[in-house]
Amino acid sequence: MLDLTSASVSSVVESAPLPAMGTLPDQIRAGRAFFFTGRGRWSGNGTSAADATEHGSAWSSCGTCHPDGLTDNLTWIFAAGPRQSTSLDGSFSHGIPGTVKQRIFNWTAVIDELHDFETNARGVSGGKGALTTSATCGILAAETRTSITGSGLASPPVQEVQDTQAMNCTTDWNRVTDFVKVIRPPRARRYGDAASVSRGAALFGGAGGCTHCHGGAGWTISNRFYTPISLNNGAGGLPAQAFTAPVTFPLSQSSPNTTQIALQHPSADSFVPTTIPPLQLTCALRNVGTFGVPGSTATTDALEVRSTAFIFGGTMMSTRAQGRAGYNVPALYGLAVGAPYLHHGKAATLEELFTDPLWLPHTQAGNVNFLVGGSAATDRADLINFLLTIDALTTEIPVPAGYASGCACPGGGGSC
Ligand code: HEC
Ligand code: HEC
Repeated sequence: MLDLTSASVSSVVESAPLPAMGTLPDQIRAGRAFFFTGRGRWSGNGTSAADATEHGSAWSSCGTCHPDGLTDNLTWIFAAGPRQSTSLDGSFSHGIPGTVKQRIFNWTAVIDELHDFETNARGVSGGKGALTTSATCGILAAETRTSITGSGLASPPVQEVQDTQAMNCTTDWNRVTDFVKVIRPPRARRYGDAASVSRGAALFGGAGGCTHCHGGAGWTISNRFYTPISLNNGAGGLPAQAFTAPVTFPLSQSSPNTTQIALQHPSADSFVPTTIPPLQLTCALRNVGTFGVPGSTATTDALEVRSTAFIFGGTMMSTRAQGRAGYNVPALYGLAVGAPYLHHGKAATLEELFTDPLWLPHTQAGNVNFLVGGSAATDRADLINFLLTIDALTTEIPVPAGYASGCACPGGGGSC
């Protein structure tokens, strides 16, 4: 307790005992600390005199852009393109235990494990990172960063490297994963017009056809159906496994790629006559016509840029963003606190998302006759009222038959 008169600590009162070392609550606590405090290896690299004593000045952490584990609601220009910060409440689903799943990460389905964000800890926060080796682990200056050429969907995956390398220093990324799993979506509206909400739910699962893409666990068909290991991510694995679009899907909505892991297909975007990196999980992508600003080539070309040009065949190719072939279907938790919407944040409100003709291909992706005619305004209001009630407790609505993701393991199995 602080004694304000003498400006001293008069007694120590613990609000609650810390969880026992090594238990899951303790691991979650550690992951939360790494995520938010950005101390030590998360922002310091031990090479300067200041770092040696300070162990990281914590000027940035994951929490900088993901306050409370959610989103700062800003659109950053990242290496893949303009990217609205994703709320991590939907990175894992929150439905019935046993059905909980991890989605593929990022707007263009380019990341499959939390460990891949090592590049963020090193590059954005200036930290040593948590994938290091040393004979004297714990002294940052004496630790060597492991090369992470296999981050994203490439091989060997980062967690596999962590688990198999000699003199590995920490498994902190496992703790961050434990924490992200328990980020709860904000509690949604409870006191709306109940009849309107249930009409909206019926439209979502029925006439709107929203569940073709936003059905199932975590309100998205996006699903990490495989364990990131060399066997799956390596050349003979998912990069060689055929991708066949579900027959019920209009071809225009499916990725033109023919294998499960691939670079964006050259046919998707005539702006650059080549593939666009990084590697994507093809079966998680759906094209709903949201690349740039539809109808305005100049605005699209100015908007859909990436922070660094990509190199192809030794030539600096372009700063064209990835995404023309479609996006990773987002989870729909926390919409009331997550505006603006879409990967580039171009829809300011849910009303705009479902009214502006620019985004009509998305609104009608599940049914070309949706939100037309005399009932459009009421249906739109009902749909939005329902969307605003989605949180961890809302009963998930399954994906209708025929609209499964099209994901398949090496050899054709459903999980690997
Ligand atoms: C500079 C802002 C910024 C910082 C710092 C940041 N993120 Fe992010 N994060 C983003 C943006 C923007 C996206 C969307 C990127 C994309 O889709 O290409 C994102 C996406 C993610 C996702 C994908 C979620 C999903 O379900 O698709 C995860 C997981 C994530 N970040 C974790 C982290 C972790 C862990 C750290 C700390 C090491 C971190 N982020 C630091 C801005 C940031
Ligand atoms: C064919 C697949 C598909 C269908 C059908 C579909 N969506 Fe989407 N939805 C997507 C994709 C992909 C995005 C992301 C697009 C982007 O960011 O550019 C998205 C984005 C959204 C967003 C914005 C989320 C955010 O965090 O920015 C909302 C809300 C949404 N959809 C609700 C719906 C509703 C309601 C319906 C039914 C009327 C529907 N969607 C139908 C694929 C689909």
